[in-house]
Parts: sequence; C-alpha cells; structure tokens
Amino acid sequence: MSPVLFALLAGVFSLLCLYLYLKHNYWKRNGIPTAKKCVPLVGHLLPIIMKRMNFSEFLRLAYEEQKDHSMFGIYKGTRPVLIVRDPNLVKMVLQSNFSHFHKNGRKIIAEVDPLLAKHPLFTHGETWLKNRNHLTRAFSNVRLKILFVAVSEVCKKFEEFLNERLKTSNKYEVDLKSLFTRFTGEVVAKGGLGIEGYCFKEEVGANAFHKLVGNTFAESLGTIITFHYPDINRLLKIRFLAKSIDRYFRNVVSENLKIRRNDSTPRNDFLQLMIDLEKTGDVIDEENVTAHAVSLYLEGLETTSITMNYICHDLAANPEIQEKLRKEVKSTIEKHGSLTYEALKNMTYMNQVINESQRLHSAVGFLPKICSEEFELQGSDGLTYRIKPGMEVNVSIFGLHTDPKYWVNPDVFDPERFNDERKQTIEKMTFLPFNVGPRMCVGMRMALLQTKACVATLLSNYKLELSPRTQLPLKLSPHYFMSEPVGGNWVYISKL
Ligand code: HEM
Repeated sequence: MSPVLFALLAGVFSLLCLYLYLKHNYWKRNGIPTAKKCVPLVGHLLPIIMKRMNFSEFLRLAYEEQKDHSMFGIYKGTRPVLIVRDPNLVKMVLQSNFSHFHKNGRKIIAEVDPLLAKHPLFTHGETWLKNRNHLTRAFSNVRLKILFVAVSEVCKKFEEFLNERLKTSNKYEVDLKSLFTRFTGEVVAKGGLGIEGYCFKEEVGANAFHKLVGNTFAESLGTIITFHYPDINRLLKIRFLAKSIDRYFRNVVSENLKIRRNDSTPRNDFLQLMIDLEKTGDVIDEENVTAHAVSLYLEGLETTSITMNYICHDLAANPEIQEKLRKEVKSTIEKHGSLTYEALKNMTYMNQVINESQRLHSAVGFLPKICSEEFELQGSDGLTYRIKPGMEVNVSIFGLHTDPKYWVNPDVFDPERFNDERKQTIEKMTFLPFNVGPRMCVGMRMALLQTKACVATLLSNYKLELSPRTQLPLKLSPHYFMSEPVGGNWVYISKL
C-alpha cells in the first residue's frame, strides 16, 4: 500500500473514531447516565440485531440496571434516546405535557406503507385526531354491545372446535397462542369485516383469516431498521406491512363496499360503521376504510391473542386462582341466565386476573414518543435534561411493571394486587398495559370484551393444565418484537 493511501485511510479512520466518540458521549456530556454496553456505530442495539433478545427485554434490563436514576440514555446507532424511569416524568411525557410529546416514535415510510400511514400509531396532528376519532366511535358502549353479538357467536364456534378435539381424547394439548389467534381472527373477520374467517376450520389451512398475519410481527433486520433506525429507512424504504396483506385488505374492503352500497341489508359490523360515518358527512374514503380495517386486524388479532395467551398460561400455572375465577364465572352466568354483556361486566375477579397477567406479561413492552417542543425534564434525583425537538423519549412498560420499588414480590402472579382495596395503593404511571393519556389504546374495551368472553367460555366448561412442553420460566423470544414466549405456551385442555 502506498504511504499516501495509508495516510489517507488512517485519517479517515481517525475521523470516524472521533465522530463516534463525540456521538456516543452525548449523554455523558449532558450529565445523564448511559446504559452499559454501547457498541460503536450500532449503539445499544447489538443484542437485538444479533437476535439475543427483543427490544422490550433489552429496555427492561437497562431499566433495572439504572435503578438509581430517574432517567438515562441509550443510543440507537449514534442517535441518542432518552428513557424516563420516574413515574412523574412518565406522566409528563404521556399525559400532562402531551402537546410536547404527541408524536409517536414508531415510524413507517408513507409511500411504501400507505395503509399504515393512516393508522393512529403512525400519525400525528389532524390526521391522527381524525383517524383516532373514527376508531373511538367504533368502540362506543352502544357499538360494543352490538359487537358482542359477533363475539358470542365466536365463543360458540370456539366451544365446538374444542369439543371436536376432545372427542377422540380426553386431553387436548395446544399452544395457546395458536388457539387464540383463531378466536381473535374470527372476531375480526366476523365482527369487523362481516366475512367468514374459517379460523376454526382445519381443512381451510393457510387460507384461514388468522394465518394471513404470517410473519408480520417477526423481528427481522427490516423491522429493526424500520422502527429503530428511521434515518436509514428513509433511504432503504423498507415496508412493514407485507404487500400480500395490503392487497388482501384492499380487495376485501373494495368488494364489500361495492356490495353494501347497493344493498340495504342491515349489518352491524365495524365496516358498516365506517360506511355509515360517510353518511354523517364525515369524509372517509375507501383508502381510509381499508386503513381502519388493517388497524383492527393488526391490533385486534395479535395484541389481544397475546394477552389471552398469557392469562390462560397464568391460570394453568395457578390452579387455585383458576378455580376461584371459575367459581365467579359460573355463579355470574347462573345469575344472568347466560354469558351476557352485563354478566361479563360483573366479573370483578376476572378484571383482577387480567390486570395481573398484563402486569407480568404485557403484550406491548415500551412506549416510544418524539419530543416536538423543547421541554425541561426534572427527575426526583436531581437529574435535569432539556429535551430538544426530534429526540425520542421512551418508557419501559416491562421495567415499570416489574419494579420491586412499586410491586412487592414482582415476579409472583397475585391478582389480589388489583382488589378494590390494594389497587388504590398502586403508584400512578407504573401500570400501563394500554398506555394512558390522549394516545391510550382506542381498542381497549373491545380487547377486554373479547378476552373476558373467551376466558369465561373456557373456564365454564374446561380445565387448563400446564403441559411439560412449556419452557419454564417463560423467556421472551428474540424473534418477535411483541411478547412471545420461547417455545410457545403449551397447555392441556380437558372437559370439567
Ligand atoms: C389486549 C389487547 C391490546 C393491547 C395490550 C393494546 C395495547 C396498546 C398500547 C400499549 C398502545 C399504545 C402504544 C403507544 O402509545 O405507543 C395501543 C395503541 C393503540 N391501540 Fe391497542 N392494544 C390492544 C388491542 C387493541 C385493539 C383490539 C384495537 C382495535 C383497533 C387497538 C387499537 C389501537 C390503536 C389504533 C392504537 C393507537 C392509538 C393512538 O396512538 O392514538 N388496540 N394499544
């Protein structure tokens, strides 16, 4: 190598080192503690890229490591990201100073993901308000009662499915996640789009509605770049929603809209509500309706089935709690004559069990927000940081949900934490399974309705036992960015 070339390379290398040194010292220069194990160029995301853990788990570990601080910094590549730990700071970001943090940190490229570009999670300002409002109307009290009719039908199909499996054997061994995506898939198909989902029909195979989701939630280099390195994605333009799903929804919605615009048969599903919004003068075109159908599909199917999965795992692992909940379910159904909407509302121990399961295994592990106006964050430990527009600030749901400072024996499944008396003592902002504030989950009531109906159907007729195939203690899979246990949640289901 010629000496000139060598000197040039050495110069470039030194400049790169200086650049990385300056970039990765941002938090130190600003007096904010930094999470350990920052790697030049990739920052803290090496374990995620190497598929050693998912981002939620990484953030929980960093949250624990920084237990003496109200806030700390990490780097996504060379980009500094602030993590707030103090419940007071969490409240400022998610609720009380929402106007400074109203943008979400999950980013997609609108040209390549046009349907997601209308999803409230990925929008802000007027577009967010308008689209959120459409979905909020879809889950009003009156609408939920209507949707409950579809949920009840799915409960019956669910029972038929289980009874069929239990015809030849007295125990049915199943991975709960795969079982519940059938349930939530059928609810979205029937109650959402008014189509047949075939989720309980084995012979339909890969064409069943719940199978469509495929690898949408798998952690890949593509999703890591999309969510954590948005600057790189502006160049690469990686799409999040597979083309096949995009096409499928455009076709289903378009065909359905055509039929319904020329047909006066009364229908009560989510799609009909979107069509009716058009009649009230709200400008909602086909693209918007399709985008809402995709929101319902992604959120309604996956997050809800993950939640059901963990609740039933916890019930299988804690037979006394399962029995106590069964007693409540049976006595409430007896009082109401059947599993009605009102009966579900009266199951208070059910609420405790769901809350506690969500505390231990929240489907969503973190809440990334973007600062839009300069703001001073002051922690209870004296740390102060003036956050600038454009910077990401993140909250670790997993960290807060399992922090021994707020939860006695945080690893123990104890629904009594949420009884009437003890729930008053829970520190505010330490329990966030659906987020809080203006960006709180719009589908929460729908999700809880179908979760309760599904769990009540199961417990009133069947018994759940852990199968030895479940790998205990549960470990989060690094291959999904949502909460999925390694090896699945296997149980035996038998008739009572
Ligand atoms: C148990 C199931 C569910 C869980 C645990 C859950 C959790 C969450 C969480 C934590 C957020 C906040 C995300 C953030 O701020 O970064 C959220 C937002 C959202 N959820 Fe859910 N969700 C569930 C079911 C549903 C369902 C059934 C729908 C129906 C469409 C839905 C629609 C949405 C939408 C549209 C947002 C964005 C809200 C906004 O940014 O304004 N979710 N959800």
